[in-house]
Amino acid sequence: MSFEHKAVLLNEAIKYLNIKEDGVYLDGTLGRGGHSFEILKKLSEHGKLIAIDRDIEAIKAVREKQPENSSLILEHANFLDFDKVLNKHSISKVDGMLFDLGVSSPQLDNAERGFSYQKDGPLDMRMNQNQALTAADIVNNYSQKELIKIISDYGEENWAVRIAEFIVEARKKEEIERTSELVEIIKAAVPKGARRGGGHPARRTFQALRIATNDELNQLQKLIKKSVSFLNKGGRIVIISFHSLEDRIVKHSFRELAKDCTCPPDFPICVCDKVSHVKVITRSPIEAKKNEVDSNPRARSAKLRAAEKI
Ligand SMILES: C[S@@+](CC[C@H](N)C(=O)[O-])C[C@H]1O[C@@H](n2cnc3c(N)ncnc32)[C@H](O)[C@@H]1O
Ligand SMILES: [Zn+2]
Repeated sequence: MSFEHKAVLLNEAIKYLNIKEDGVYLDGTLGRGGHSFEILKKLSEHGKLIAIDRDIEAIKAVREKQPENSSLILEHANFLDFDKVLNKHSISKVDGMLFDLGVSSPQLDNAERGFSYQKDGPLDMRMNQNQALTAADIVNNYSQKELIKIISDYGEENWAVRIAEFIVEARKKEEIERTSELVEIIKAAVPKGARRGGGHPARRTFQALRIATNDELNQLQKLIKKSVSFLNKGGRIVIISFHSLEDRIVKHSFRELAKDCTCPPDFPICVCDKVSHVKVITRSPIEAKKNEVDSNPRARSAKLRAAEKI
């Protein structure tokens, strides 16, 4: 079976990367290479693209379509370890970085990966299948209190307390192993009348478990902090996020990195030691146009923000 993935905000991402044909670029979320292939088109034989994914399936699929060559380097790694990958290839800094967060359509569409509440599969949800922790470990072993926190913080789910209660009750009888079992438990916990907006009652809990399993928000925060010192002057960092929790982190982290000295003007010298590292290029987030949303529902919640190293 072949799973397609339509790259979201493709033209916008390329535009904000401001690609120099001889530059060195990093795609930290290769997926099926939608953005990477477009970056490659803009590079001369002297340019380079290092593309990373923590899902080996992504690396394999792209390797098949586009064999590595002098311009393309593919590496199976967590984007947090991009410095190690660069180091391995004797690269100290890059001219641009792209991170298109979240899951890819192939991950979502493959029931065996356990990401989907619409397909029955094992409660897995690991982007990197070498990782030990699965969603099933969380659902079956975390305390009720921890479950409430995850479902409420990462899912922004109003029914977190009841869902956690129902999970803990159900797992006393037997381990919850399948996505479909969890969906039934959530459906029982969330009263029919309370299912606002017509969205699937399990959507928020699945999002929460996916974020927790893959430690997505902590890693995003660390990534942004780390990234700027690996950008050449004028180099861009472009991030596409898919829900408000991610976008908030990107927005605040960029703002923090852009902050200049905050000492009162009458101080003779700076005592705060703040220097701005970047200039934020996107005043408000860039969103997909109607025609893209119509042809790709995943684009509906996408938000792109970009910053430039100064
Ligand atoms: C939305 S998809 C990227 C799609 C890609 N831009 C395209 O057009 O085909 C996100 C990808 O990032 C990967 N990913 C998410 N978090 C990651 C991390 N911390 N390190 C490396 N890859 C990650 C996922 O495995 C997934 O393949
Ligand atoms: Zn200061």
